Order: sequence, then structure tokens, then C-alpha cells
Amino acid sequence: MAPLVETKFTRFPDGELYLKCGELDDETLIVSSIVDNDMFMQTLLAIDAADQSRNTLVIPYLGYSRQDKRFSPGEPISARAVARALSTGIERVYVVNIHDPGVLGHFGVPAKNVTIAPAVGGYVGDLRLKNPLVLAPDEGAIDFASDVAAVGGWDCDHLEKTRLSGEEVRIAPKTIDAAGRDVVIVDDIISTGGTLATAACMLRERGAASIHAACVHGVLTSGAYTRLRAAGVSSVVSSDTYENASSFISAASAIVTAIREDAHR
Ligand code: R5P
Repeated sequence: MAPLVETKFTRFPDGELYLKCGELDDETLIVSSIVDNDMFMQTLLAIDAADQSRNTLVIPYLGYSRQDKRFSPGEPISARAVARALSTGIERVYVVNIHDPGVLGHFGVPAKNVTIAPAVGGYVGDLRLKNPLVLAPDEGAIDFASDVAAVGGWDCDHLEKTRLSGEEVRIAPKTIDAAGRDVVIVDDIISTGGTLATAACMLRERGAASIHAACVHGVLTSGAYTRLRAAGVSSVVSSDTYENASSFISAASAIVTAIREDAHR
């Protein structure tokens, strides 16, 4: 078993972060979710503190990853900026269910996506639903939903989403035979819950028997949980890549497996 190094963060009087970590080996695994700006800074400091070591960076949740394009002139490609900044002082990086795999190319070192779709599928199985329908709320989530559905050989379908604003989406009406079905909507991220709530309302209108939500990264901001409950979603579960009260699925074993596979090559 690898030893765990204690890391302490405090703040200078002006608010700047200070880091002190214990004695490091010649090989270090830094595990850090970029859930906010402080965590981004903490990660940079941790990498720098380990400058005498060969470092692998594991990013369970890569914040800023949804600004992966210049959607309008004058914008940064934030995912690229973060990836570039985190590439110094490390030899390789693992990211759990990255929003767009194309972002991996912005790291200056080998970068790999680790999917926890099998673990999410395991959770769907634990729900003990009879013949569930696994649904992706948009085209971007089709591969993830297919991998989840493959765990139990369940039916899988997807909706077509257009984003109108940060909190509002439009989901095109689609013929989905949800009547009487237990539906599990799966996505990489639930942020405001707008996407899933819109999908859930549509499914309710089509007579779904029950609607559940499962995702990798449960950001769950701006009243997301209430929004989902109001839309008729009976359960909301996420993984521990972004820790909160809905984190019932662990990403740990998928990360360990990915690292071990590479170590044995
Ligand atoms: C977008 O393409 C993502 O896969 C999620 O669907 C989106 O980030 C969810 O955001 P929200 O919960 O705010 O609708």
C-alpha cells in the first residue's frame, strides 16, 4: 500500500493559500478535484511542493471543462487554460469522465479519461427496477448512457437538448416509449439540474412510472436538488468525484484500475 502524505493548507492574512506537506517519496500521486478556484490553486501548489518527485495527477472532477470551446468571440477556452496550467511538474494525468475527451489533448503530458460508467451501472442494478430504460438527456451523453445500460443489458435511448442559458434548456419532443417504464436519466454532470428537470417533466407527460437520476459529477448548484424533486425525480445519485450528500458511488476502483493497467505495461 502506498503511504499517505499529510497535506495542510492555511491562508496568509491577505487570503493567499499556504501549503505544507509531509515528506515525499520519489514518486507521488496527487489526487485533486478542481471543484472551485481554491482547489485549482491548491493543486498547483501541491504539484510544486512535489518538485523533487515524479508526479502523476489524478483529477476526479475537472472544473471549467464545459467551457471547452470559444462559443463566442472574446471568450477563453477555459478547459484548455486549466489543462495547460496543470501540465507542469507532472508526468501524466487521469481525469474521471471528462466532459469532452478532446480536452485531454490540451494537457502537455499523456492524459487519460477514466470512466465510471460500470459503477453507475452497478448503482442502477441496485435500484432493482424491472426492465429500466436508461436515458441520455442529450447526444453528448449517449456513449456514457450506452456503457451504463450495457451493465444490465437494459434499453437505452437519448433526447435532443438545446441550451438556452446557464440554467435553461430546451428538449425537443421525441417519441420515447416511456409509458409505464422506470426511467434512469444518466449524465456526466448535474449542475443546476435544469437539463434533467426538463427531461423529467417530458417523461412524466409521457407516463413514465418512475424517474431516477444518476451522474458522475454531482455539482448540484443553484437549488438543483429542489428543482429535480419538483420535476418528479425520485432519487438523485452521483459519485464522490464532487463530494456532496448524493455521493453514493465511488470512483476509486476505476481510478486504481486505470493506474495499475498503465503501471503493468
Ligand atoms: C452538458 O452537456 C452536460 O453533459 C450536462 O448535461 C450539463 O452540464 C448539466 O447542466 P445542468 O444540470 O445545469 O443542466
